[in-house]
Amino acid sequence: MPATSRNQYVLLLFFIFSSPSRERTSSVLFILPNIHRDYKTLLLKNAAELVTCRGNAPKCGAAMQDIGIVEDGALWLEDGIIRQVGTTREILAGLTVKPDEEIDATGRCVLPGFVDPHTHFLFAGHRAEEFSWRLRGDTYMDIMERGGGIINSVRATRQASAAELLETGLWRLDSMLSFGVTTVEGKSGYGLDAATELKQLTVMAELERQHPVEVVRTFMGAHAIPAEYKGRTDDFVDYLLQEVLPQVAERQLADFCDVFCEKGVFSVEQSRRLLTAAQAMGIKAKVHADEIVTLGGAELAAEISALSAEHLLHASDAGIRRMAETGVISVLLPATAFCLREPYARARFMIDSGVPVALATDFNPGSCFSESIPLVIALAALYMQMTPAEIVTALTINAAAAVGRADRIGSLEAGKQGDFLILEHPSHLYLPYHAGVNCVTTVVKKGRTVYERPMR
Ligand code: NIG
Ligand code: FE
Repeated sequence: MPATSRNQYVLLLFFIFSSPSRERTSSVLFILPNIHRDYKTLLLKNAAELVTCRGNAPKCGAAMQDIGIVEDGALWLEDGIIRQVGTTREILAGLTVKPDEEIDATGRCVLPGFVDPHTHFLFAGHRAEEFSWRLRGDTYMDIMERGGGIINSVRATRQASAAELLETGLWRLDSMLSFGVTTVEGKSGYGLDAATELKQLTVMAELERQHPVEVVRTFMGAHAIPAEYKGRTDDFVDYLLQEVLPQVAERQLADFCDVFCEKGVFSVEQSRRLLTAAQAMGIKAKVHADEIVTLGGAELAAEISALSAEHLLHASDAGIRRMAETGVISVLLPATAFCLREPYARARFMIDSGVPVALATDFNPGSCFSESIPLVIALAALYMQMTPAEIVTALTINAAAAVGRADRIGSLEAGKQGDFLILEHPSHLYLPYHAGVNCVTTVVKKGRTVYERPMR
């Protein structure tokens, strides 16, 4: 690693850890102030519906409909790990010790913690004015071509200190947690230079240490072309390949690498170069594919065996079939289509073609400034012809698979992490029915209650 960037890195760490340790009062009224209270065993009982979503791999086709419901369900957890799942009668009959903690979920539905597998949640500044231009008729790409869009957020994020980003990130994770999100994927890409990309990824690692929500990090240096490389996209790709990606790999700052493969941004060829280089360094590939125009992003994801292709509003039939053949997960982002007033991705065709589908918010300052899981659920049900059970699969086990963690999270079964949420309603059918409203009252992460609000 060059000495200057090593120094920058040491300075950054110093800055983060020397920032005054704050007893942070949570932004969300009902997030419990003391999440570190220790207990060893937890019993959850009497759940009207315990939705297990059992499985260790992404589900496709008819399997997305099977969410493994246990009526009058119960869970037994030890040290944050699920040890037993069954009916309340079965679990109580097998109990030999009194639990340290007990949750009675009578009349309520329990689900695996939601996984939000595609966000750009860590950024500085906002773009409300651009949104107002879009309301007037400007398109997302018009604004980007005029030098606004992502580059605007890059300017603000370059200027923000690590401590400022950390503070903003904590508030945003609070909000996501209140919607039942226990794991989130976060992409860099508001730096487009080594120092700021590493700053974003390092702050995300620190966020995970400070907050109960698990943060999966994706390097997305190829998110836009910075002003200093305008008209020289190939040179910028070389810079990312030679100066940034190796540092990300060496410091193990990201599990994934993503590219905005789009007309006027990064071509299929440039995306292929970056993603295959990342794969050679042990970083798995994801692709922002066919979001604005049909470019062949879905086909590229299949060709290089990317873990997932994301957006896909304009993916071709052939691309979708190739994804099904190669097992690429489709991560769909209906709130982005909604905010851009674009047609929704063809979820029904994808599921029926055998592509495993996951859902995410795409929370970012431009195309979709919303971390709302209820909005995603409502749009998926009403405009993408996904059934309530398919939506649950898409936000749990398939979303866990889309961040490479289906062996640990995404379902409620023995051996998995104790991440679950409780609804104020008795069935998962209320998720789309109670349209746009947050029905989550309780969130448990690694066996500990980390969010709770009174029943309405
Ligand atoms: O997923 N398309 C590229 N990235 C984001 C938007 C980021 C932004 O506008 O700041 C997306 O839509
Ligand atoms: Fe995105």
